[in-house]
Amino acid sequence: MTRAILTPDLPTPSGFQLIRCDASDGPVALQMGRQILEELAKEGKAAHYIIDETDEEFFDFFRKPEFYPLGVLDPNNALVAVGVASHRQEPIQKYLPFIPAEDVQASSKSVGYIEFIQVAANSRGRGFQRLLFAELEKWLRAQGTLYATGSVSPENQYSLNNFKSQGYREAGRYVVKDLNYPRILMVKKL
Ligand SMILES: CC(C)(COP(=O)(O)OP(=O)(O)OC[C@H]1O[C@@H](n2cnc3c(N)ncnc32)[C@H](O)[C@@H]1OP(=O)(O)O)[C@@H](O)C(=O)NCCC(=O)NCCS
Repeated sequence: MTRAILTPDLPTPSGFQLIRCDASDGPVALQMGRQILEELAKEGKAAHYIIDETDEEFFDFFRKPEFYPLGVLDPNNALVAVGVASHRQEPIQKYLPFIPAEDVQASSKSVGYIEFIQVAANSRGRGFQRLLFAELEKWLRAQGTLYATGSVSPENQYSLNNFKSQGYREAGRYVVKDLNYPRILMVKKL
């Protein structure tokens, strides 16, 4: 299967390609996510990253049209980074108190949500999270979205730094139900 290869605005390391993921990428992305969770748990950093979708819900990110899944392929065509954006209302509800009501009401696409970004351990520190932020925001902006939102663990220093360096600011905090993990809501005016 050939997937769409995109041209990112930010420079990409030689041999790596940005792609628009399709349904075939769901299982690979989930496997990558599970491996990341295992590694983080071993390092005592389980709260850094959460996958709270069922497998089927996770696969929906890659097969339902309301989601925008992007990936990075390494020179061997292996998926090494994935990020997904949407305008899903349910997670966005948490951000609404922090966004002016007139902006929220402007359209159902006024507020966008970065569902997740994950980078395989051996491909970190090469700018892929920042690349995915930029390209997911580009998609949101093209649809008239006014705000990008996302959430991050206060202990996840790399991710928190990246959110901040991309212009996101802290809008509030909450605790993930059942797990008791703290999260910071991040918002950026696009
Ligand atoms: C957080 C995460 C997405 C960062 O991805 P990444 O592609 O390595 O991040 P980038 O390369 O775009 O980040 C660049 C910055 O982070 C630093 N960085 C990120 N991960 C690093 C690592 N493992 N080792 C060293 N530096 C790292 C870089 O030095 C760079 O900072 P600088 O420009 O100030 O030097 C990745 O570590 C990851 O997938 N973690 C597990 C899942 C997760 O936490 N997802 C985010 C949830 S909100």
